[in-house]
This record gives sequence, C-alpha cells and structure tokens, in this order.
Amino acid sequence: MAKRQASTIDKSVGKSVGKSVGKSMGNVNIGISDKDRSAIADGLSNLLADTYTLYLTTHNFHWNVTGPMFNTLHAMFMVQYTELWNAVDPIAERIRAVGFPAPASYAQFAKLSSLPDVPAKPPKAMDMVRVLHSGNEAVARTARTAFAVAEKASDQPTADLLTQRLDIHEKTAWMLRSILED
Ligand SMILES: [Fe+2]
Repeated sequence: MAKRQASTIDKSVGKSVGKSVGKSMGNVNIGISDKDRSAIADGLSNLLADTYTLYLTTHNFHWNVTGPMFNTLHAMFMVQYTELWNAVDPIAERIRAVGFPAPASYAQFAKLSSLPDVPAKPPKAMDMVRVLHSGNEAVARTARTAFAVAEKASDQPTADLLTQRLDIHEKTAWMLRSILED
C-alpha cells in the first residue's frame, strides 16, 4: 500500500499529500507514540479534506442537476451531502483527540485532498453520478490507507471511525455505480 508522506506527490491525482499539518499541542499520553499519533493525524487530515471536498461537490450537484432524473438525483444527492456534512465533525475531533490541530481552510483542503475541486461548470446529470462515484471510491482509498496506520498503532477509536467511513463510501459507490449500469 502506498504510504502518504511529507512532500510526496500522489501521481494519480497530482496533489501533495501528508504531513505536518500542525504540531502536536500539549501533552498527550494515551498509549500511542508521538510518531504514531502524528501519522494518524496525517491520515485523518487527508480523510477530512477528501470528505469536505466530496461534501461540497455533492451539494453543488444537488443544486445544479438538470434533466429527466432531476427528482431522483436531487433527492439522492441531498441524502449524501447531509451524511458527508455530519461526518466531517467526528473526523476533525478525532484529530484533536490525538493531539493535533484540525485543518479547515480551502487552501489546506486543496493541498490535502486526493479529490479534484468541484467542476467549475455543472456537468450533465450522468457525469455528476460518475464524478461522485469516483469521488466516493477515492475517499474509501484514503480511509483504507489511514486504517492501516491506526490498526498498527492499536488506535481503536480511529480504526472504528475509519471502518464506518469505509462502509458508507463503499455503499454509496455501489449505489452510484448501479445507476451507471444498464
Ligand atoms: Fe436543497
């Protein structure tokens, strides 16, 4: 599995990823080494940026979808963006619980996310479904990479959170994929 590290470039997306979003704050003595807490915070920061970017993309598509499937997709996208919006808070708060500041600016998210920015021009309805399908798969990959770090460090709360995020993104990807199939 490719490991995200400082100043590396994820060639599949051309984004810089990883590390040193912020310095550990205060004394944290929860049985996880400083090095592991830092790596966990990095993985969660990537997940936060991905999740926020997918949230914004999905809400944009809720507003801008057109065509014969308007009702179906408008409603489906609302369910999805609401779930994503509710997900960012526990991810950010887990970063804080392991002792690091949570990144939360458009500049930081652009740097940390593996997803492209929201399309400037609203795509056709089925292209929106394609964008969200690949977005959900990308977030699942990011969560799975972070999971390996959390599991190795015996960080059960982070592993639990990541398991839940993997479940929802893989399920959502399946639903979107099904729309695209005949
Ligand atoms: Fe709405």
